[in-house]
Amino acid sequence: MIQENQIEQTINALFKGITFPSEPSGLYDPLRYMIEIGGKRIRPRLCLTVFSLFRESFSEEIFEPAIALEVFHSFTLLHDDIMDKSPLRRGKPTVWKKWGADTAILSGDVMQIDAYRRMSKASPDKLPRVMELFSRTAAMVCEGQQYDMDFESIPDVSMDAYEKMIGLKTAELLACSAAMGAVIGGADDKAVKALYDYGYQLGMAFQVADDYLDAFGDEKVFGKPIGGDILNEKKSWLTVRALEKTSDKSSFIKLYARQVESDSEKEAKIREVKSLYERLQVPEDAQTAIVNYTDKAMDSVEDLGLGRLRTVILRRFAEKLVGRAM
Ligand code: IPE
Ligand code: IPE
Ligand code: MG
Ligand code: MG
Ligand code: MG
Repeated sequence: MIQENQIEQTINALFKGITFPSEPSGLYDPLRYMIEIGGKRIRPRLCLTVFSLFRESFSEEIFEPAIALEVFHSFTLLHDDIMDKSPLRRGKPTVWKKWGADTAILSGDVMQIDAYRRMSKASPDKLPRVMELFSRTAAMVCEGQQYDMDFESIPDVSMDAYEKMIGLKTAELLACSAAMGAVIGGADDKAVKALYDYGYQLGMAFQVADDYLDAFGDEKVFGKPIGGDILNEKKSWLTVRALEKTSDKSSFIKLYARQVESDSEKEAKIREVKSLYERLQVPEDAQTAIVNYTDKAMDSVEDLGLGRLRTVILRRFAEKLVGRAM
């Protein structure tokens, strides 16, 4: 088995060494920018962590696919920030803010293509499986993003519909990252499936934590403006739970749909929605949901007979991932 500290070193080295074409700089500078401004890099880390459970050392065959997962993720953020009109990402101006939406669209396109090229470097014997998994996942992310936008104009969204939406937009890519590490690591089908489920449940926990932090996080740590989901009328976990719990649904729906223009109107709306969440104890429920998803993630790998050491590594990964929400 590969030591955990080697994973960190490998991630750092991989992203320090990443290169994109230099010309035209107007097209490729935003790609360099997205990677240089960092991010938590959880998808390649998950992929390498799972790979490490099955191998004694890292080999070239996992590096480009692991990088591809992060490049693909960063591409989705590039387009997501246009769709969500977000000014800030990873504590820095978003690409569309810095270079304009036209650039963000085209640089996003080429970034996705770059991700595919890297993924296609997987070893030939695994390539059909790898590309099928990756393409399937990429389409599901788009499907989830469409539901996410559709829900902006639907006032009352059920928890089932919400779970399906975040499953597609977020959890599937974590599932894919874990499964990719297992497939390329040489795990058997049962282990691939279990680790896919592990990644999926972690992804669910992760998106609920992201929704929580969007309202209750600290902008300096979160790197994104607080209250963006509320202003976009996103049906976040907090919104959906509040809709389930409130005794006065129509007032909440009216408040959530209130049009705001000035900064002071925006601040007031964010404040009122957050205090309603707090009155309904929705933040506490979110923490419980995060713990439940994390437990489900661990249940997924229970029957694999991974042994104590490997199980502890997966548990530590899970706890670190959502620890940011506590
Ligand atoms: C943001 O992902 C989008 C979500 C799925 C919540 P991350 O929180 O992993 O973003 P970075 O890569 O660390 O910036
Ligand atoms: C994004 O969800 C998920 C993606 C597939 C990009 P969000 O819109 O909540 O992500 P953030 O909060 O902007 O990072
Ligand atoms: Mg979004
Ligand atoms: Mg967004
Ligand atoms: Mg978010």
